[in-house]
Amino acid sequence: MNRNRFLQSLGMVSGGLLVARPGLAYSNPEEFSKALSGAVDDKDFWKKVREQFIFPDDYMYFNTGGIGAVPQVVLDMVQKSNIENEEYPKPGHDEARWLQVKKTCAPFFGPTVLPEEVSLVSTATEGINIILNGLMFKPGDEVITTYHEHVALNLPLLNHVNIHGIVVKSIEPDTQSAAANVEAIRKLVTPRTRLIFLSHITTTTGQVLPVAEIGKLAQDMKILFAVDGAQALGAMPMDVKSLGIDFYVASGHKWIVGPKRTGLLYISHEKRDLVHPMTIGAYSEMENDLKKGSLKFRDSGQRYEYGTQNEALFFGLERGAQFIQAIGIEKVYAHDRLLAEKFCDGIAKIPDMELLSPTEEPYRSALITFRHKTKDYMEIANHLTGKKRMRVRVVPEAGLNAVRVSFHVYNQEFEVERLLEEIRKYVG
Ligand SMILES: Cc1ncc(COP(=O)(O)O)c(C=O)c1O
Repeated sequence: MNRNRFLQSLGMVSGGLLVARPGLAYSNPEEFSKALSGAVDDKDFWKKVREQFIFPDDYMYFNTGGIGAVPQVVLDMVQKSNIENEEYPKPGHDEARWLQVKKTCAPFFGPTVLPEEVSLVSTATEGINIILNGLMFKPGDEVITTYHEHVALNLPLLNHVNIHGIVVKSIEPDTQSAAANVEAIRKLVTPRTRLIFLSHITTTTGQVLPVAEIGKLAQDMKILFAVDGAQALGAMPMDVKSLGIDFYVASGHKWIVGPKRTGLLYISHEKRDLVHPMTIGAYSEMENDLKKGSLKFRDSGQRYEYGTQNEALFFGLERGAQFIQAIGIEKVYAHDRLLAEKFCDGIAKIPDMELLSPTEEPYRSALITFRHKTKDYMEIANHLTGKKRMRVRVVPEAGLNAVRVSFHVYNQEFEVERLLEEIRKYVG
């Protein structure tokens, strides 16, 4: 059974009205920051964070890796902005205001990333397509990736194999050794290798790939390096510049708790001209003249943006970014990892349970994947999500047939204990 059928089988289609949580949720980031600074201890702090989300108190959400949840401040901003945009209808691409959104989001990529190096896109998938289409591959060009990528990367790569005759070479990620992965990639490099494109954190096992070492390898061998950071941006501190990354894509709707249909794309200033803008229109260009046949693109990430936009979504994304920044990215990372480690400790004590996430702790993330030797993964997931209101995700990808849980800001320590307890009862 695939993922969609799994959700359908659980009847997880909501038709409810928007439910605000007056008195608990804050509709502006300053009030939220003030409330957090008044927390008496860690437990109180994370409880206050949880109160900003509208899903019911008895629902435990362990699927940020799939789709993140959105706090009240984001919902309010999207709603307010949508209404304002209809009072005096506009096309939704106010350049100065968009630059402000990029300014807020740029620090997620690293301290010296410029707003002009960031593009606002619809999804991580769109960012991936912008990079691959823009590199104008020639037949025989080689791309190195892994067998644990999301379809968001696999499908565009396969399209390029079929249309442009590129060659894709993949490694099977070794979850026991980061060094082995770097070596496996090195062995695939040939004079035709143009690009290494892989996940920062894999969607399958939550493995943090050694991007610093791979970035160095790419720089030494003069190969372009692109990273799919859908599972990493907003979940961990990073600096794409010191990691040797040329291009980085992320979803806005997962770890940055922004609205669905938002994404972020980083293309370094130095490498911008290597990524030709292929889907373009109003706002992409500096000047154009059909009579003279001339076209000049914006000298910024704006060249990859085009046409009428729903800016409410990106103002919502900005609020999501501010929400994570009010907590602090270091604190978010420490919290999410603490919960993940507690979960791993508990899983390790359950007989016949296999942890598929890396054994090397620095390469584990807030996504943990496990399976049982005899109990079917679908049944475990159905039990937790359908019967116990603990939303987890199945991982049929790469033949893993496993269950994945993700921990983020709305999760609390007691939820990890409850989750482990349910798993123990079910498999025991
Ligand atoms: C590693 C990875 N890349 C890309 C995506 C797709 O993200 P989006 O829906 O923003 O395109 C996902 C979604 O789960 C993912 O896990």
